[in-house]
Amino acid sequence: MARLTIQGVSKSFGASFAVRDFSLDVEDGELVCLLGPSGSGKSTLLRMIGGFEKPTGGAILIDAKDVTSLPPEKRPTGMVFQSHALWTHMDVFNNIAFGLKLRRLPRQEIRERVENALALVGLANHGKRMTTQLSGGQQQRVALARSLVLEPKILLLDEPFASLDQHLRERLREEVRDIQQRLGITTLFVTHGQDEALALADRIVVMRDGATEQVAAPDQIYREPTTEFVAGFIGSMNFVPTDVSGKISQHAAFALPVSVADGKVVLAFRPEALSLRPAQHPAPATVHRSIDFGTHKLVDIDLADGTRLKAMTSPDSNWTKGMAVEPIVRAYYAFRDNQLVHQSVPSSEMNDNRVFAHV
Ligand SMILES: Nc1ncnc2c1ncn2[C@@H]1O[C@H](COP(=O)(O)OP(=O)(O)OP(=O)(O)O)[C@@H](O)[C@H]1O
Ligand SMILES: [Mg+2]
Repeated sequence: MARLTIQGVSKSFGASFAVRDFSLDVEDGELVCLLGPSGSGKSTLLRMIGGFEKPTGGAILIDAKDVTSLPPEKRPTGMVFQSHALWTHMDVFNNIAFGLKLRRLPRQEIRERVENALALVGLANHGKRMTTQLSGGQQQRVALARSLVLEPKILLLDEPFASLDQHLRERLREEVRDIQQRLGITTLFVTHGQDEALALADRIVVMRDGATEQVAAPDQIYREPTTEFVAGFIGSMNFVPTDVSGKISQHAAFALPVSVADGKVVLAFRPEALSLRPAQHPAPATVHRSIDFGTHKLVDIDLADGTRLKAMTSPDSNWTKGMAVEPIVRAYYAFRDNQLVHQSVPSSEMNDNRVFAHV
């Protein structure tokens, strides 16, 4: 268990910044997901925490001890890299034992710890296999076991399951969550998958251009995005640019109260906050198509100006192409210059509305 403190860390390569002035406190035993588009600095940040990259500014502290200039092997961190690199000329046992041998532990202890680590990731009795004889998912588990066997205080996972199919990924991430909680390891988990972050994290950090865009618990990130970028990045969101005049949005289909000075805003609402009502032609919108997901339907509608929006409806709704509809927004946000300037309802009410109250 350890507490991680990142203080104003930056990393530049030549003239461009990969990470800029990044600060974060991670509590003992907490699991934090780093989420952000490709190139937003996630791997660079993780590599600096693990000691594989030197910051150009700022400090990294583990349990209040400054580790900024320590090499990886002197840090209480374990890292699973984005492209996992197992040694193909060694069997599974020796891949996992490698770090322990470097530390010159007694043979019997090495054997016990490797066997424990293998059992932990569900690969007991696989020690003698060559890594080339393992499936992709099993190789990922060996990479995980290789980090866990060193008993790191802080575990750094860089998209460890990116190459796996969805089912395996879901299973492995549940296992990681399980192991992480049982051992109480402070963990930073980089992922591209917002579902993964929402399912795993105690807190989510959304990164953009090397900096923090928002840090919050998953439900808060989903229900109270503080920027337009986060609103669009996490979950599905409809965006409608429009003008506000006299505290009302001046859009042909959406005249909504927006308590902000006159000027441009972007209205945003989730598919589950958009209901459809039958209308007569000429209508504010027409149905483009409806996709049945079993638990719900997702209906694409086109506004008169061509803007396409998504509405989530009940599984027994029956909207078909060409139908005239009136879209009704039940909960919405308004952004100006990327910043949240208006939110229609408190998050708790929005939560209740997610059951299909008005389909
Ligand atoms: N060694 C390097 N030399 C120069 N530029 C680098 C180096 N490593 C990373 N970068 C740049 O820093 C930025 C951040 O890269 P990083 O690998 O941290 O992104 P990422 O968020 O992990 O992306 P991805 O999701 O694609 O893995 C990118 O613009 C990248 O090109
Ligand atoms: Mg990366």
